[in-house]
Amino acid sequence: MKKPNLQNMPKGLCVMQDPTLNKGTAFTEAERDALGLRGLLPPKVQTQDEQVQRFFITQRKRATDLERYIDLASLQDRNESLYYRVVTEYIEEMMPLIYTPTVGLACQQFGQIFRRSHGMYLSEKDRGNIAQVLRNWPRKDIRVIVVTDGERILGLGDLGANGMGIPIGKLALYTACAGIEPTQCLPVAIDVGTNNQSLLDDPLYLGLPQRRTKGEAYDALIEEFITAVSEIFPKALIQFEDFANHNAFRYLHKYRERVCTFNDDIQGTAAVALAGIYSALRITGGKLRDQRFLFFGAGEAGMGVGELMVTALQAEGLTDEEARKACWFIDSKGLVVKSRTDLTKQKLFFAQDHEPLTDPLKIIEAFKPTAIIGASGQPGTFSQGVVEAITRVAGQPIIFALSNPTSKAECTAEQAYFWSSGRAIFASGSPFAPVELDGKRFVPGQGNNAYIFPGVGLGIVASGSRLVTDEMFLAAARTLADLVTKTDLDQGRIYPSLMQIRQVSLAIAVIVADIAEKRGLATEKLPADLESAIRAMMYQPDYISYV
Ligand code: NAI
Repeated sequence: MKKPNLQNMPKGLCVMQDPTLNKGTAFTEAERDALGLRGLLPPKVQTQDEQVQRFFITQRKRATDLERYIDLASLQDRNESLYYRVVTEYIEEMMPLIYTPTVGLACQQFGQIFRRSHGMYLSEKDRGNIAQVLRNWPRKDIRVIVVTDGERILGLGDLGANGMGIPIGKLALYTACAGIEPTQCLPVAIDVGTNNQSLLDDPLYLGLPQRRTKGEAYDALIEEFITAVSEIFPKALIQFEDFANHNAFRYLHKYRERVCTFNDDIQGTAAVALAGIYSALRITGGKLRDQRFLFFGAGEAGMGVGELMVTALQAEGLTDEEARKACWFIDSKGLVVKSRTDLTKQKLFFAQDHEPLTDPLKIIEAFKPTAIIGASGQPGTFSQGVVEAITRVAGQPIIFALSNPTSKAECTAEQAYFWSSGRAIFASGSPFAPVELDGKRFVPGQGNNAYIFPGVGLGIVASGSRLVTDEMFLAAARTLADLVTKTDLDQGRIYPSLMQIRQVSLAIAVIVADIAEKRGLATEKLPADLESAIRAMMYQPDYISYV
């Protein structure tokens, strides 16, 4: 953040009520004089370190993660630098609070825990006036927007306007993990109603009390939003988040060539899963071109991974047809095969020439996968029988239980290691604690999109890229996998430690900006030393001196 001009700064209580300026007890004596703060604060001047310690004294005494989430949200509303200092420095501890799994709970109880608005709510009521409403946002230089319509929040379903917790959490990660300026981030919830009856019946629900608008009227509202963003915030990257499957794919295809946009559930998940596969193969010694992937779940996440996997397999010399034959999908109706008449365009792309099968054990027997990737939102899908069967056919199976939050994971880390007798290479969407088995310690990987989207976003912002391409996600996956060390792999950990997330994001940003430039998409002139330039752009949560 640039040093504000002291003359134009708000004074007295106003400065303390602005979270972007407030330092609380860390205002120095000179600042207290210059800003009219004498008497408004206790006399002791504290350092940011001391404030962090004070925050944790209360935080660690809290009985539940939801209470910790509420504490963090109010810190964000009070003192942004301190919030990002806590979140950035203690990212391993904070990530499960500000993101999955706790954010899921926060969304479910959003109506009860709502304190202060953070982000913009655009609803049916604003139709025809979206541009005008966006102008109400106090910041003008917005570079990243995360938008949801709340229809598919994590694996929790339709949470309507309560889904706002997700854009807020994701943008906090953009800042914490990649140093995007918080003032350049805008969380948006588009409220077109909800079909969740319990929310409609809940007097504390804060969204529009109506069933979802669908069809042309819904598309027109999204179109109005995209057009308005292009006008009001022309440099903004728009990340679609937690839209339902049918809309997610349509909008990605509709807008990806027109505006700077991507869908994290489809493309971010794909890149993080592919990176995990690259790392896992460093453990097994296998080649990507020889793998067979069995996906449980043929939705946004599963299909996204499948599509990027096909691109990656083609890059290894397979034909399009060979690549698709290496990716089998199971959905709620069974194996995705050509004879089925209920398949969407995306699923048809992966439909196999095989008899219909519904029993996962028979499918494993028929396909002999080397990896199973769960994105079904159905806990227990990786049963003991499934894990034992893939261990039998693969020897050292790759098992990714990507469904979020933790309660939806296809199996737990413990189950994967125990049922495979310690042979599985395991990663999950939500975090699991390390597991001890036969004297060996296994560290499960977290296939968390936070390894990908902040870095991609930073590269897009730095280069001013007009579009986001699949090539960028493929490169991000490779970059992430390359940063996994031998020590990580020795413990079965297939992603770098979250403590390195800023270096990961920087490396991804550099490659993404470079691709933007090479493909003629960059609108910013990039310096020769791209890495130093991007590093210098990254927000640091240190206090700046006002006097
Ligand atoms: P979606 O609703 O688009 O797809 C779910 C798919 O699972 C559908 O194809 C459905 O037919 C299938 N399915 C349902 N029951 C099944 C069963 N018993 N066996 C096999 N397939 C079954 O949902 P989406 O967006 O793909 O998300 C799925 C899950 O993945 C969610 O829990 C979500 O939180 C998680 N996810 C995780 C990410 C990560 O960890 N990095 C990122 C994005 C999503």
